[in-house]
Amino acid sequence: MTTRTRSSRRQEDVLGRGPIARAWSKVFAAGYDSLNSGAEEGGVAELRAALLKRASGHVLEIGAGTGTNLPHYPAGLRSLTLTEPDLAMRRRLESRLDTAGAQHRVLPERAESLPLATDSVDTVVCTYVLCGVDLPAAFDEIRRVLRPGGQLLFLEHVRSPEPGLAKWQDRLNPLWSAVACGCNCNRMTEEAITAAGFTITDIERGGVQDEVALVRPIIWGRAV
Ligand SMILES: C[S@@+](CC[C@H](N)C(=O)[O-])C[C@H]1O[C@@H](n2cnc3c(N)ncnc32)[C@H](O)[C@@H]1O
Repeated sequence: MTTRTRSSRRQEDVLGRGPIARAWSKVFAAGYDSLNSGAEEGGVAELRAALLKRASGHVLEIGAGTGTNLPHYPAGLRSLTLTEPDLAMRRRLESRLDTAGAQHRVLPERAESLPLATDSVDTVVCTYVLCGVDLPAAFDEIRRVLRPGGQLLFLEHVRSPEPGLAKWQDRLNPLWSAVACGCNCNRMTEEAITAAGFTITDIERGGVQDEVALVRPIIWGRAV
């Protein structure tokens, strides 16, 4: 059975954007899965599967998008809570859940304001989402809801260590961010995870085929 929140904000886009950005976000959501299909087949799906095998207990996924991670979660989780503030993305996520046949909860709230109790989550999952949130505020909330000893699983694209590519990521970020609905292609996410007080227990860096150059490299791993 699928469980859904009855929040009055369920039908809202809670990102506080203007009408043009909201209209563009519908186009973005409609094209999201096909835009990413090359990179998913080129290796991202495999990375998701390996990462999410490690999820356990009460799991919270931040910014679940269209639900690309859903097929990769292991059986036996105590609960799976998915947040998604973009209305168009959330509608796609919910339609996928209709056929998923498991217990899930979808919340519209942003990462910076999670309606969950302190110390209530065992695993927080962030994939391709930390590029678009207010990092200090989101990490404050993630750390608040994670129980002591809980884990953060991440798979994110980051600013390149190669000066040539990093320069273009910095230059093109304003344009990229407008087209890609608030995504920043030059985030130093690994450093931000550490600065937020997490200890990274393992991390890998690399790239996959058919990924847009501006969102290379990617990092994936676990922090506590
Ligand atoms: C690039 S998509 C990634 C979707 C999914 N996590 C994946 O791995 O394919 C980024 C998602 O983060 C959501 N998002 C944007 N700002 C957010 C925020 N402040 N808090 C939580 N999610 C946010 C977007 O609506 C979008 O669905």
